[in-house]
Amino acid sequence: MKKESIYAQVKAEILSVTDGEYNIIANMASVSCLLNLAFEDYFWVGFYIVDPEKENELVIGPYQGTLGCLRISFDRGVCGAAAKTGKTQIVEDVNAFPDHIACDSQTNSEIVVPVFNKKGELIAVLDVDSTKLSTFDETDKLWLEKIINKVFKK
Ligand code: SME
Repeated sequence: MKKESIYAQVKAEILSVTDGEYNIIANMASVSCLLNLAFEDYFWVGFYIVDPEKENELVIGPYQGTLGCLRISFDRGVCGAAAKTGKTQIVEDVNAFPDHIACDSQTNSEIVVPVFNKKGELIAVLDVDSTKLSTFDETDKLWLEKIINKVFKK
């Protein structure tokens, strides 16, 4: 099946499951689970949450995959870059990304999407990793941003 068709299907599932739910942990757990089930290439899917207790630091949230790093500063890695700039980061080869944090050396490419609430505040980032090179492109960016905005900006 084409990527677009899988995204259209999983978006409908995610919106149906999270409809009327405002708890961010419940929504993050559901999004991670359903995206992970939908795509074979997704090796690690999960959220790093902006820590209200520590300035400019992300702390691990709900995820599916191997053990993730517990904390990431806004100044480190792909997740930090997404948090700092508020822009989606697509990395075709993590080995060529300066300062990439290798929580699991099996990761070769990744996409990180910032998550905003309806007030426009950054609350987390969604990190999706693949064991293959160049897994993610503008199609993934478009669909993941669409899904994330629907679920967390309500
Ligand atoms: N990929 C991230 C680190 C988190 S783990 O891969 C789960 C980064 O470099 O920001």
